[in-house]
Amino acid sequence: MLARQLRPSVRAARLARSISVWSAVPQGPPDPILGVTEAFKADPNPRKINLGVGAYRDENGKPYILPSVSTAEASFVGEADKEYLPITGLASFTSAAAKLAYGSDSAPLSQGAVAVTQSISGTGALRIGGAFLARFYPTSKVIYLPTPSWGNHTPIFRDSGLEVKQYRYFDKSTVGLDWAGMLADIRAMPQGSIVLLHACAHNPTGVDPTQEQWKELSNIVKEGKLFPFFDMAYQGFASGDIARDAFAPRHFVSEGHQIALCQSFAKNMGLYGERVGLFSLVTSDKEEKARVESQLKILIRPLYSNPPVHGARIAGSILNDPALYKQWEGEVKGMANRIISMRTTLYDLLTSTHKTPGDWAHIKSQIGMFSFTGLTQPQTEALASKRSVYMTKDGRISMAGLNGGNVEYFAESVDGAVKGTL
Ligand SMILES: Cc1ncc(COP(=O)(O)O)c(C=O)c1O
Repeated sequence: MLARQLRPSVRAARLARSISVWSAVPQGPPDPILGVTEAFKADPNPRKINLGVGAYRDENGKPYILPSVSTAEASFVGEADKEYLPITGLASFTSAAAKLAYGSDSAPLSQGAVAVTQSISGTGALRIGGAFLARFYPTSKVIYLPTPSWGNHTPIFRDSGLEVKQYRYFDKSTVGLDWAGMLADIRAMPQGSIVLLHACAHNPTGVDPTQEQWKELSNIVKEGKLFPFFDMAYQGFASGDIARDAFAPRHFVSEGHQIALCQSFAKNMGLYGERVGLFSLVTSDKEEKARVESQLKILIRPLYSNPPVHGARIAGSILNDPALYKQWEGEVKGMANRIISMRTTLYDLLTSTHKTPGDWAHIKSQIGMFSFTGLTQPQTEALASKRSVYMTKDGRISMAGLNGGNVEYFAESVDGAVKGTL
């Protein structure tokens, strides 16, 4: 009866829905970080601040195009063709990017023993690495991630065919490294397990091991015959010093570890949307490297055939031109220093100006783009609803979202959230 009363178009739509092949597809949860941006966009408050997204902003809160990137781009736009790249990418870029990570004095690099492929930024590198290990790593299919880790690590490695487990990393009570817990968990891993290590600027905590701790970790990883899988998404961006930020993977390689390494040029060159990255594996010699690269090609070809060319040309131009490289190094330092200065300003405002209860030393000691503030979920919710200050519910803030124009408002808001006076 009801069906006969409905307009034919509505009836047809209902019928189509009831017989659709996709009718059983469940609604998935929204992405926790992009959800923060949605809420921020919908907020009419002119003083609103978005500290959720992990992208650098300049002193005026605007996206930053590095001048070295503009120069590099101008040198080939309109001239370079749009042909396909080889499966493993632009050779002039991949060799320079590997040198940036491993160092120009790296033994396996000079022996031609590092297998490399361009990747769809850091995410793509992780996915290629996960898939390669799932297919060829002989000893284990289990990868251990720090708790917490970047939210995308678990789905990337699960979808690559690995089993994901955790090791302790962050101590909530000290807002610092849970060194004892980390050591105990890594020592307890079954021989041959894969262990994921954030090379620098751990996301989301901003807490890194010291160089001495990295040396000890290298020994323990060796004792346990574990496979070290490095994610280096922030080289140069953490301390402002390219070599210093690459200390951990370089040290592991110098100690004889055959590492996997993922690089991203999203943050350190501001090439977020260009998707420029590198995946590499240290092998024992040239012949083994050739075999490994042949399998990387077989893995990549059915995934996306070959990588995008534009961003690789930009990064390659910068890395291969000594003058432009020097300029870029200065710009990376500039971004890192602006973030570090925001850490100091925020710390001073909380401790000296507002006398906000708590120990805020971690704001200054944490490294890179993010800071785990220690704010609780109810406090983050109050900051969003009462002050239009947005961050992820775990209290992580992107320091790059703070600037001279909003840091005082932010500190005052945090003070109110902690004192319960918002
Ligand atoms: C730890 C970590 N790894 C990898 C990535 C990958 O980023 P992208 O794919 O944009 O290079 C990110 C980005 O936020 C990250 O924080």
